[in-house]
Amino acid sequence: MCGIAGYVGPRNAIEVVYDQLKRLEYRGYDSAGIAFLNGAATIKIVKKAGKLTELGKALGDDVPDAHIAIAHSRWATHGGPTDENAHPHFDQFEDIALIHNGIIENYAELKADMVREGATFHSETDTEVAAHVIGQEYAAGMPLEEAVRRAIRKMRGAFAFVVFSKKEPKKFVAARNFSPLIIGLGDGENMVASDVPALLPYTREVVYLEDDRVATITTDGVTITDLDGKAVVVVQHHIDWDIAAAEKGGYEHFMLKEIHEQPEVVRMCLAGRIDEAGKVRLEQVFSDQVWHGIDRVNIIACGTAYHAGLMGKYLFEKMLRLPTDVFFSSEFRYSDPLLSPDSLAVFISQSGETIDSLAALRLCKQRRIRTLGIVNVVGSAIARECDRTIFTQAGPEISVASTKAYTAQCIVLELLALYIAQVKEMPGVRVDENVLELRNLAPKFEQVLLVEDQVRELAVKFQDAKLAFFLGRNADAHAIREAALKFKEITYIPTEECPAGEMKHGPLALVEKGTLAVFGATSSDVREKLASNVREIQARGGFAWVVTTDDDNSLDAIADAITKVPTTSDPYLNALLSAIPYQLFAYYVAMAKGGEEIDQPRNLAKSVTVE
Ligand code: F6R
Repeated sequence: MCGIAGYVGPRNAIEVVYDQLKRLEYRGYDSAGIAFLNGAATIKIVKKAGKLTELGKALGDDVPDAHIAIAHSRWATHGGPTDENAHPHFDQFEDIALIHNGIIENYAELKADMVREGATFHSETDTEVAAHVIGQEYAAGMPLEEAVRRAIRKMRGAFAFVVFSKKEPKKFVAARNFSPLIIGLGDGENMVASDVPALLPYTREVVYLEDDRVATITTDGVTITDLDGKAVVVVQHHIDWDIAAAEKGGYEHFMLKEIHEQPEVVRMCLAGRIDEAGKVRLEQVFSDQVWHGIDRVNIIACGTAYHAGLMGKYLFEKMLRLPTDVFFSSEFRYSDPLLSPDSLAVFISQSGETIDSLAALRLCKQRRIRTLGIVNVVGSAIARECDRTIFTQAGPEISVASTKAYTAQCIVLELLALYIAQVKEMPGVRVDENVLELRNLAPKFEQVLLVEDQVRELAVKFQDAKLAFFLGRNADAHAIREAALKFKEITYIPTEECPAGEMKHGPLALVEKGTLAVFGATSSDVREKLASNVREIQARGGFAWVVTTDDDNSLDAIADAITKVPTTSDPYLNALLSAIPYQLFAYYVAMAKGGEEIDQPRNLAKSVTVE
């Protein structure tokens, strides 16, 4: 999710890569750096925490001339946003400089081996470990691309690298395994970037580097090999997007882009957290003894993160039989909460800066309650102040209406529940089965995105709705709350959301002819009951859109419209997958209404730092 830029050619390479990073600023980042060769025998690296302007200031007005440079804007994952952790990183001999996106899952093992052999590291990053691994191979005297190929065989994870060497100063080498890399082809100059907008001012001829490919890029051209060093055909594409569209990856809004990023987010969120034996590995959480002693969990959050918390309560109580409460942060601090000394307070926050959650966290700390953060932004206040933090690794979320952060929060909650079950050796929990479902989840997110056309068609019919109901039972009773929030935030259509069985105790009075009711029906054990609720709505003239799993036909005949999500053996994940049709529905109703403000709905802000 970080920004990558690289250039070799006759222009001032430093100015080019700096400009390219500027064009990737919309992705969000917390530090930036550059490495270049300007005729001298050593590579120079300049890097700074903070905005790109900090790097600009460090480079000064009198930018040296350079023919080759690589640059990176970082969004912290391993280690906080500091000068030391910013990329590029040197290998141990300072022969090569490397920038990297993604996560090296086995970096801790690789680092431990190298430390034993006497290597020293200057940062907490997995990237510096990758630089050392490549450096070790390169020291044996092979060409840089071969060293990269050999090093890749030692690393696990999702990554994209760009690296160059002072010993072969006319080329850089790029490699990809899951994280995107695009090569820009110029006339007597060539470049690389993590996203198309960085390239557009320089060229519209590009090559999308594929997984397990290594590219050698010089002023004269590009050659690409597989991991065995066999040449592969270079397929060139022409880009005709305008620059604004390109920032959004061709999507009209960041919200839609982020909805589509969710399969990748699932992969990133799981990366490094499930080992080969199928065990959940969470670094930086409490000792086994602590987990055995925890008698209650209090989840504290706002908005979408609160809804992830509701999903967490469902999971913790069903899977772990661990009493769990969920609080709105803004209520928690003034409620004089009853907190047992052995309870755990879990703070969920995308931004890590939401003031209500931060204040609630400080209250827990005053009361000496153990705190755990589930946070997206590394280095944020909540991440820093919690006793322990698990990062959601969802990448920067730009749309105000949260989508991919919610999915990542729910996945971290499942990882956490499985981790606790593992530590406590709970006989009733099939950790292996659940882990398998998590491993298969990213393709299911890809599959569920295929409902887009169907949902778009349905959405157009409801652009003039005056009210929408969101109803469900069990896990769906929580999932539909987030669905309703998404819908009201960007369509400005009021919603009524409640457990489906609760309708007849009041809200049913609001149903009239044509009223839309969205039913979450992924929880198979309560489907029959839900069918009665569907009929209650229809008997009063309402329209029932049912979202269920693809192994279920029981509601086909009664639903006015039906959408199916891929089935897993885990009801929690089934309800999580239903988030995609709900998000798409909200998006396309808002689009049908004009869609001007989708990324920044009226009256709302991305990070709420006022009470
Ligand atoms: C809704 C949304 C908000 C946030 C809430 C908490 O789409 O994004 O409801 O979830 O403001 O923000 P964080 O997670 O940053 O604490």
